Amino acid sequence: MTSKLSILGFAGSLRQGSYNKAILRAALEVVPSDAELEIFDLAGIPLFNQDMENQPAEKLKEFKAAIRAADALLIATPEYNYSMPGVLKNALDSASRPYGDNALDGKPVAIMGASIGMLGTARAQYHLRQSCVFLNMYPLNQPEVMIANAMERFDTQGNLTDEKAKVLIRQLLEGLIAWTRQLQKGRA
Ligand SMILES: Cc1cc2nc3c(=O)[nH]c(=O)nc-3n(C[C@H](O)[C@H](O)[C@H](O)COP(=O)(O)O)c2cc1C
Repeated sequence: MTSKLSILGFAGSLRQGSYNKAILRAALEVVPSDAELEIFDLAGIPLFNQDMENQPAEKLKEFKAAIRAADALLIATPEYNYSMPGVLKNALDSASRPYGDNALDGKPVAIMGASIGMLGTARAQYHLRQSCVFLNMYPLNQPEVMIANAMERFDTQGNLTDEKAKVLIRQLLEGLIAWTRQLQKGRA
């Protein structure tokens, strides 16, 4: 019997009614039984200042420890000005430092996103994938979960109602689990 995988999810938005936080909540509903998903809120991670990188804030220590404890990551990114938001970039930059202490090193990661635009965070996701190269993360290629025209796919409480999107999120999680197990097998 294989053990349960732990997945840490976080969204690159601090907004209370965030669509990207909402798709993480949707992921909680469809996570396969051989994995556990925990959500981490990026609020409170200070702006990265290299002068302070050897005195990390408590919240950053918590974030890095949660990343290290997880087998895999699930990132929900909004798109800001055709890229990932500063909140997400700052969290990744902070978790990657100081040099030699990159908590993201070697982590399998699945990426998804929701935006009110027609491309559903495609451009932000490709920028995020570019950062994954230098961070030495292992992003899952497919399915690509890009939830466009978000205002049509959530109810008034901000919950995802689009059934096709929920199926895609389930497939993304299944893919991430298989990908993570494959990488773990290769490292054993
Ligand atoms: C500064 C800023 C820039 C934005 N740029 C884009 C963009 O390039 N593409 C896009 O599809 N939506 C863009 N949007 C709209 C976001 O998709 C929308 O605000 C979305 O709700 C953000 O994600 P969240 O709901 O998780 O906070 C932008 C919003 C802001 C505030």
